[in-house]
Amino acid sequence: MNAVRRFEEYAGAIVTGASSGLGEAMVKKIRDEGGDFPIITISRSEPCFHYPEYSNKHVSCDLSNAAAINSCFPAIKDFLDDLRLDGKLLLINNSGVGAYGDFPEDDFIKLGSMIDLNVRAVVHLTSWLMPYLETRGGNIVNVSSLAAFQPTPYLSVYGATKAFLLHWSLSLGEELRTKGVKVLAACPGPVRTNFFRSAGFQRRLDNVSGREPDEVAAKILLSMLKGKPVLTCGFVDWFLAVLVSRLPLGWIARLSGVTLRRLRLNRFKEERR
Ligand SMILES: NC(=O)c1ccc[n+]([C@@H]2O[C@H](COP(=O)([O-])OP(=O)(O)OC[C@H]3O[C@@H](n4cnc5c(N)ncnc54)[C@H](OP(=O)(O)O)[C@@H]3O)[C@@H](O)[C@H]2O)c1
Repeated sequence: MNAVRRFEEYAGAIVTGASSGLGEAMVKKIRDEGGDFPIITISRSEPCFHYPEYSNKHVSCDLSNAAAINSCFPAIKDFLDDLRLDGKLLLINNSGVGAYGDFPEDDFIKLGSMIDLNVRAVVHLTSWLMPYLETRGGNIVNVSSLAAFQPTPYLSVYGATKAFLLHWSLSLGEELRTKGVKVLAACPGPVRTNFFRSAGFQRRLDNVSGREPDEVAAKILLSMLKGKPVLTCGFVDWFLAVLVSRLPLGWIARLSGVTLRRLRLNRFKEERR
């Protein structure tokens, strides 16, 4: 990645959802690439990685719960107060879940909690951290998805939460253009993580075309260091994103619905028999 020198500019990072998948891969990549600044991780379970030579702190928090987020602010404030004075701050909003199936997929409680996690928690945490980010300068990385560019029947609420993140990130980045804070909307396609199983798929559907979390983490961090506003991973993902933006959304919704139903819902039903 050749980013060691660039990571030296950072005084600390806040990373959500580093207990598995992409978040874990991003923290490991930061450390592997020489990022030696303190990192605070936030998720329900504690990450398994150990870097005894570096300063790592974990706050256990269910980010789908607004009161729980408020209750972890004192620990984050202590973390921020201990950082060296002259470095940038990095916020990676990565925690997220999906829900697959006919609407209302599982039940509304689960969908509401997904909206709270994928959308409200990101806005909540970012707005609380804004004064620190503006004082120090730095970067916000919001992990959206390739699903953000199009309607996604059978993943309808999930896709809409990721579309929110894409559009909000771009708008926020524009508002912060002169304030020394860059915002990246990371929009990966399928990645080989626990995501598909926890979203309700019966087996991993990312095996054929999915990327490894390490590869995607490296791309996200490199784009963040370059100050890019949006990341799609590779030519095919970029082409799909451009293509859907050129065609009528109604067509895309129909095509996407047929594809997702045929490729996924049928397999899911077969496996339940
Ligand atoms: N995998 C893909 O194909 C793919 C593609 C595009 C975008 N993404 C996005 O990438 C992000 C990371 O997902 P992943 O693929 O790495 O899946 P993952 O391995 O399942 O990781 C999800 C992370 O989110 C955390 N999380 C879940 N519920 C939470 C809650 N209520 N409060 C706090 N943290 C919570 C989990 O930690 P705890 O369970 O310990 O709380 C875990 O660390 C998500 O935003 C996802 O939408 C994934």
